[in-house]
Amino acid sequence: IPALASISRSSGVLLGVAASSGKLNDTDYKKLLVRHFSSVTPEAECKIKELTPQGPDHYVWDKCDAVYRYAVENGKYFRLHTLLWWDHLPDWLDKGSFSPRKLRAWTVGHIEKVMARYPDAYAVDVINEGVADEFPGGVTASLDGVRRGNKWFPLIPDYLELAFKTARRVNPTAKLIYNDYNIASMYGWMREKSNAVYLLLRDMKSRGVPIDGVGIQMHFCLSAFDEPGTFEGIAYNFQRLGQLGLEVHITELEFNCSPYGDPCPRWNRASLDKQAALYRQVTRLCLDYSHICTMMSTWGASDRFSWRGPEQHALLFDEEFRPKPAFFALAEEF
Ligand code: XIL
Repeated sequence: IPALASISRSSGVLLGVAASSGKLNDTDYKKLLVRHFSSVTPEAECKIKELTPQGPDHYVWDKCDAVYRYAVENGKYFRLHTLLWWDHLPDWLDKGSFSPRKLRAWTVGHIEKVMARYPDAYAVDVINEGVADEFPGGVTASLDGVRRGNKWFPLIPDYLELAFKTARRVNPTAKLIYNDYNIASMYGWMREKSNAVYLLLRDMKSRGVPIDGVGIQMHFCLSAFDEPGTFEGIAYNFQRLGQLGLEVHITELEFNCSPYGDPCPRWNRASLDKQAALYRQVTRLCLDYSHICTMMSTWGASDRFSWRGPEQHALLFDEEFRPKPAFFALAEEF
C-alpha cells in the first residue's frame, strides 16, 4: 500500500495523526504511524490533567516527552495539544478555588514550562474549545461566544490573549493555534459557532494578538454534510479565515458511524463507501486550498484505538491495521 507520508510530502498539506504514548509502544502501530503520517499530536499526555495530576507544582512529563521523542527521533512534526482546555482538568484545578491573581500566575507559569520543554513544536493548540456551543442571545460581539464557566473565563477576562502572548514570548516561531469543534462550515448546523469563532479571531487579530491559525477539529459522523450547502460552507469559511491572515489546520478529522453519544445502528459496505467519499471530499478541499489549509490530522490511525471506540469505525485503518476504502480514497487525492 502507498506510503502516505511520502506521497503527501510535496503536496503542501502536512498529513498528521493523533497518537498516545502507550500505543507508540506497539511496534506494528508505530510502523503504521511512521509510514503514513508526517506529524504527530499527543492524544492526551500533554494536557493539564496528565501533566499535573496531583497538584499545581508537580509535573509528570514522561508521557508527553515520549510522544515528543517519537516525533524528534522519527523526523515528524510535533503538534503540541493543548495548553488550556476547559475539560479534562485535574481535581486540584477543577475543584480548586483560586484567586484570579493566583490562577493567572499559575497559568502563565504552566504555559512557560510546557512551551520551553518542547521548543521544536511545529504548532501548538494554545486554546482548545474556548467558545460555547449555544448562543441563546445570538452571536453579535466577539466575546459573546467565549465559553463561560471554564476555569479561566470570566475570572481572567483576557485569558485568551494572555495565553497566546505568553506562548509567543517563549517560542517565537511555533504556529500558535486556536482549536475548536463544530466550526468548519459557515452554513448549516455549524453556522453559529463558526461565526462566533470567526468574530472572536477577527477581534483578536485586529488587536495584534499573536494567533497564526485556527484548528478545525472535524469530529464528524457520516451525515455531517447531508444538509445541502454544509460542505460548500467549509470552503467559504476557509477563505474568510485566510483573509484574516490565519492558516487552517484540520486537527482531529474522523468520520464516525453515528453522532457523539449515539450507538452505531449499522455498518456495512455502503457505510464504508460513504466514509471513503467524505474523507476524499475533505482531503480534496484542503489540497485545493493548501495556501490556507496547511495541514490535516486524523484523530488516530486505527479503529482499534479510536477514542470513540472501534464500533464507530471512524478511521483510515481497521482494527487489524488494514487500510479501509477511506485510506485509498485519501491517498488518491494526494
Ligand atoms: C480526547 C482523547 O482522544 C481521549 O483519549 C481523552 O481521554 C480525552 O480527550 N477534542 C479534543 C481532544 O480536542 O483533546 C479530545 O481528545 C477529543 C475532543
